[in-house]
Amino acid sequence: MKMKTLITGGTVVGPLGATPQDVLVDGETIAALYAPGAAAGVTADTMIDATGRYVVPGGVDVHTHMKLPFGGTFASDDFASGTKAAAWGGTTTIIDFAVQRTGEVVQDGLAAWHALADGNCAIDYGFHMIMGGVDDDALKAMDYLVAHEGITSFKLFMAYPGVFYSDDGQILRAMQKATDNGALIMMHAENGIAIDVLAAQAVARGQTDPIYHGITRPSALEGEATHRATVLAQVAGNTPLYFVHMSASEALAHVSAARSAGRNVFAETCPQYLYLTLEDQLGAPGFEGAKWVASPPLRPRDEPHRDDLWRGLRTDDLAVVSTDHCPFCFKDQKELGRGNFTKIPNGMGTVEHRMDLVYQGVATGKLSLERWVETCSTTPARMFGLYPKKGVIQPGSDADIVLYDPRATTTISAATHHMNIDHSAWEGFEIAGKVETVLSRGSVVVADGAFHGRSGHGQFLRRGLSQYLR
Ligand code: URP
Ligand code: ZN
Ligand code: ZN
Ligand code: ZN
Repeated sequence: MKMKTLITGGTVVGPLGATPQDVLVDGETIAALYAPGAAAGVTADTMIDATGRYVVPGGVDVHTHMKLPFGGTFASDDFASGTKAAAWGGTTTIIDFAVQRTGEVVQDGLAAWHALADGNCAIDYGFHMIMGGVDDDALKAMDYLVAHEGITSFKLFMAYPGVFYSDDGQILRAMQKATDNGALIMMHAENGIAIDVLAAQAVARGQTDPIYHGITRPSALEGEATHRATVLAQVAGNTPLYFVHMSASEALAHVSAARSAGRNVFAETCPQYLYLTLEDQLGAPGFEGAKWVASPPLRPRDEPHRDDLWRGLRTDDLAVVSTDHCPFCFKDQKELGRGNFTKIPNGMGTVEHRMDLVYQGVATGKLSLERWVETCSTTPARMFGLYPKKGVIQPGSDADIVLYDPRATTTISAATHHMNIDHSAWEGFEIAGKVETVLSRGSVVVADGAFHGRSGHGQFLRRGLSQYLR
């Protein structure tokens, strides 16, 4: 039996504005929106009072790595724990990265990812494909995944030589394929060949602490790789190109220039690059900084990166905020790199905190309310072919809805978070605002400080092509 839910008294927020409206949910989808008072005669099985709350489309986090194999271990969240934590934080869709490791058949990597996720997710999920080696078979597989598997975006790496790395020729061939079939190329832009030289030299000098992970990955090498990728995409025929986890002013400048030239170039950043720094976190005493080892690294405090990234979010040169959620426990995982920073598994856990962390931009006047929703929900849905099923509160869309209380406050801590990680990169962060109630396809999954969802509720999303091209 289809249940009807009426959400009353709240302010519905979308990219175009914030409007007092009641929302009627019928089964799994949104049935109607009403001006205040206009829903007086509407009957529903459940009423949710949203007075004083923002009613926003559920968050869409397009960059997560559940169980990613890295540095001899695996990211500590699986699809059950990671999607539950996401729901707690107001994210109702993730797009995770299925992995083709070098030498592996692409379809085998995809099947392995379905085996990890299917039946285990608390919220809806899709996949991108990590291409660990571009060859003739992999290029054919790209066509197949776009046409038959609902996978329309492919991540390539200019970093991590010997692991996920592709050289410029491989990148060019994959881009030509994407120009042809309409897929989006997602790029990890860091010059990994140069970084490996700097890292080996540092280790040889005895500079083995976590901070050297950042010092040996200078922002100039993110800028260089970003520029090179935009040129390769231009040569390949204006391939749709999306830079992941952008951290550096130099990289952003190349994206801005390409966009001003009218090219299909887009970028995301992540909360860690908006708030955290090389000195304050990665440079923490002893081995503590390992908690913040990720690539690209946190950038120096006195350089303009963080201010530039906030500005990029305002101007749309940065279209999306994702998390790059890739948690590794301190004990037994980060500790693999004690005495040699190059052996520290790369990544942080943030999937639970993205909506809250970006909302702090609204609370402090750096970002509009509308832009918060746009960068965290609407644009990610459009960029990755999920709109208007996801990313918007309107009749016909999935009833993925978050009630956000701007007057409540919370403090982030490993003692209270729901991610499967023994520390928090955000320990002690005070948050103005709180995710109060979360619906996933019409079902209440978080309410009254409790989780009401279940593993297996989440469905695989076959995605269309990006809807964000000019
Ligand atoms: O350090 C990171 N970012 N780990 C996850 C893998 C990647 O490059 O996105
Ligand atoms: Zn076919
Ligand atoms: Zn990456
Ligand atoms: Zn990543």
